[in-house]
Amino acid sequence: MIYLIAAIAGLAGALFGFDEGVIAGALAPLRRDLGIDPVAEGMMTAAVPFGAFIGAIVGGRLAAAAGRRKLLLWSAILFIGGALLSALAGGLITLTLARLVIGLAVGVAAMMAPLYISESAPAKERGMLVSIYQLAITLGILGAYVVGYAFHENWRWMFAMGAVPAVLLFGGIFALSDTPRWLAMRGRSAEAKAALARMRERPENDPAVAAEYEEIRAAAAADEGRKATFADLLSPRVRPALIVAMGLFLLQQLSGINAVIYYAPTVFELSGFSSTTTQILATAGIGVVNVLMTVVGMMLIDRLGRRLLLLIGFTGTAVSLGAIAIAAATGSPSLGVLALAGLVLYIASFAIAIGPLPWVMMSEVFPLDCRALGMSIASLVNWGFNFIVVFSFPVLVAEFGLAGVFGLYAVVCVAGLAFTQWLVPETNGVSLEEIERHLRSGRPLRELGRLHAA
Ligand code: GLC
Repeated sequence: MIYLIAAIAGLAGALFGFDEGVIAGALAPLRRDLGIDPVAEGMMTAAVPFGAFIGAIVGGRLAAAAGRRKLLLWSAILFIGGALLSALAGGLITLTLARLVIGLAVGVAAMMAPLYISESAPAKERGMLVSIYQLAITLGILGAYVVGYAFHENWRWMFAMGAVPAVLLFGGIFALSDTPRWLAMRGRSAEAKAALARMRERPENDPAVAAEYEEIRAAAAADEGRKATFADLLSPRVRPALIVAMGLFLLQQLSGINAVIYYAPTVFELSGFSSTTTQILATAGIGVVNVLMTVVGMMLIDRLGRRLLLLIGFTGTAVSLGAIAIAAATGSPSLGVLALAGLVLYIASFAIAIGPLPWVMMSEVFPLDCRALGMSIASLVNWGFNFIVVFSFPVLVAEFGLAGVFGLYAVVCVAGLAFTQWLVPETNGVSLEEIERHLRSGRPLRELGRLHAA
């Protein structure tokens, strides 16, 4: 049951990755067919992160009232509509609008799917299950690279393929109930208990189910009647959680990941790979390593814990980016080889920790009453900086060269080490209710893991 939930929410992640990655392969034939100038191209490309930014705002506002399940359902409908509209678009304006619709869907789904998983999963498997969502994103990116290759001149088919996972998502949602936590929060206790029992595949009167339900109910009752506001997020109780969630996404995006995801062929070109085929093959290699190392990260997350994994990830990305930057700055004759090896190490270190952990932790650290709003703010940070990095990369490269830009990203990764060391708590194996009690106690969030271990 829990894996069915993860698989369905994973479809939302696959759509996220696909709609990010598909533009890489579609751009060349689009330029040829529509004769677009760089500004129009930028607007059309950025319509997805821009729409996602709006979707995250809207989703955050509606999640408490409409429920996690219903919002996922609406996003599936938007995904299907957007995919068909973009495939049939007669011109650039329709295409830009279609991508805006897709962006809205991505923004809503990107917040709802991890929320749905984290509110349904048992504490000890939560990290692994939310990571399935990140795995789905990487599979979506890889799928988009493959689709771009397979339909290499036909952008309409590339975009149309996005409707396939959307239809599956739409169908799958009908097999799900809403999360026990959301149902309890709405006072629908009988349904909440039934949903929990179904998710744990045990009878409702099972003592373990009863105990877990009691925890959920108590946390929901404590928050009853309160509607979270921005002031709550900034209150001393919630602020530490907000800093962790926002900070991790800021670092994730400013580590330059989407410069690599969107511009990998360009980076390889700048590093001296002149053949287009080599650039595309190297890009596909990046896509494959991204998927594989996400799996490795998933196997480690509930064993090594969040903090150690993040420290490993930021060390790896800082070293690899730094090495590429130095090779580019000194005009090293082996820049090509170094760039390839460096980018493989970079994507591996990212995928093992920096990719999944912000998603996992944003779904863990907020208290129930502020969870949906907090996650929507964290998602806004994600989309806002996603947008900034993707837009600024070509400009920054023209101004400072590859060395300057990668050097900058490397510095961000070093800052990530410091941030993790000082501010990120260990939430491994700690129930959401324990995290909530800890926040209420006013003790520093960072002490959470140590207290739990003791
Ligand atoms: C994370 C990031 C996303 C990025 C992806 C790459 O999910 O949030 O922006 O494209 O990792 O794997």
